[in-house]
Amino acid sequence: MLGITAGVAAYKAAELARLLVKQGALVQVVMTPSAHEFIGAMTLQAITGRPVRDQLFDADAEAAMGHIELARWADAIVIAPATADFMAKLAMGAADNLLLTICLATQAPVLIAPAMNEKMWAHPATQENQTKLTAQGVKLIGPAVGEQACGDVGPGRMVEPAEILAAAAELFELGPLSGKRVMITAGPTREPIDAVRYLSNRSSGKMGYALANAARLAGAEVLLISGPVSLDAPKGCALTEVTSADEMYGAVMNQLDGVDIFIAAAAVADYRAEYVAEKKIKKTEDTLTVNLVKNPDILREVAASAQRPFCVGFAAETNDLEQYATDKLNDKQLDMIAANWVGDQQGFDTEDNALLVIWSEGQTQLPQQPKRELAKQLMTLIEEHYHAKTTTQSS
Ligand code: C5P
Repeated sequence: MLGITAGVAAYKAAELARLLVKQGALVQVVMTPSAHEFIGAMTLQAITGRPVRDQLFDADAEAAMGHIELARWADAIVIAPATADFMAKLAMGAADNLLLTICLATQAPVLIAPAMNEKMWAHPATQENQTKLTAQGVKLIGPAVGEQACGDVGPGRMVEPAEILAAAAELFELGPLSGKRVMITAGPTREPIDAVRYLSNRSSGKMGYALANAARLAGAEVLLISGPVSLDAPKGCALTEVTSADEMYGAVMNQLDGVDIFIAAAAVADYRAEYVAEKKIKKTEDTLTVNLVKNPDILREVAASAQRPFCVGFAAETNDLEQYATDKLNDKQLDMIAANWVGDQQGFDTEDNALLVIWSEGQTQLPQQPKRELAKQLMTLIEEHYHAKTTTQSS
């Protein structure tokens, strides 16, 4: 999310928005009401492809995504330029406009690029606010020293958009999983029957891809092993594309060394055809028998391997969800399992989902919401349990 406050440097926010979009970020611009004096909302809308948000009390906009949802949606918040007034309000926890409210409600990292007259920057009040904001975990970049719009020379200029972009990227490297390697399987597998046909399932891969994104945002190095899906490769993840369960198994085992957390979100086919016909099978007979044999259980094997990472499984069920999921947790010797209902327009190939997450000493329900948000919540749970386990093991 890009926040813009009322400073002359606001014109440079358009360039920053463009750079962020070019990096593949979904950019939602939020302006303070007086920022409009310095840059037009239409320009920013054209660059980001999303209407600018600026009102706290706008029933139409809130109906689409409320301010609390926006605060949750944001992976990071960059405010450029940040005026002295905005810094003061943010430091004291004021929430009298949309941008301040979002900053107060978010758990995402916040980066601000101050821009003001050099005397305003040097003022003890602004300096105190800077200290307070840093203590609250807000990151600051700049201001830079140089000639200012008002003719003064000194520290107060907003740093250049390219530098702000680099600082925004660094926000993620400081995440709770920085230095950790996370492997995620995603999507369905396809098990060939003959030269043109295969057995598969309705998995879209959305949950696995959303998890890959969430793990990357948490600072992890992400290895994504994906069956055939029609999704764009998530930015910054090492993607290995596979087709069958056997191929997925091979790719996982090949890259397992050094993996700290393994998340099996793929809907792996349980069986494959014993013999794959080289040519297309002809419809000469009234019935056709295809003999199926069991595929390797990738998750079970990873959980039983010598270099066992922290293992998270999924359980998609049409009935007795909690019981089946608990059985799988114990049977496959997992650290955690995320269970969801499937069938009846639920779970597979949908935008929203809900999860019941179970571990050996407890469980929690993550409510129905877009998979992108759900993945972030699940990733936070995984992080917490992973760190708790590794701390106990090393003490
Ligand atoms: O036993 P079931 O298929 O219901 O278990 C589901 C969990 O096991 C999922 O996390 C899935 O990714 C994983 N799995 C696997 N390899 C298989 C079958 C399931 O990794 N062959």
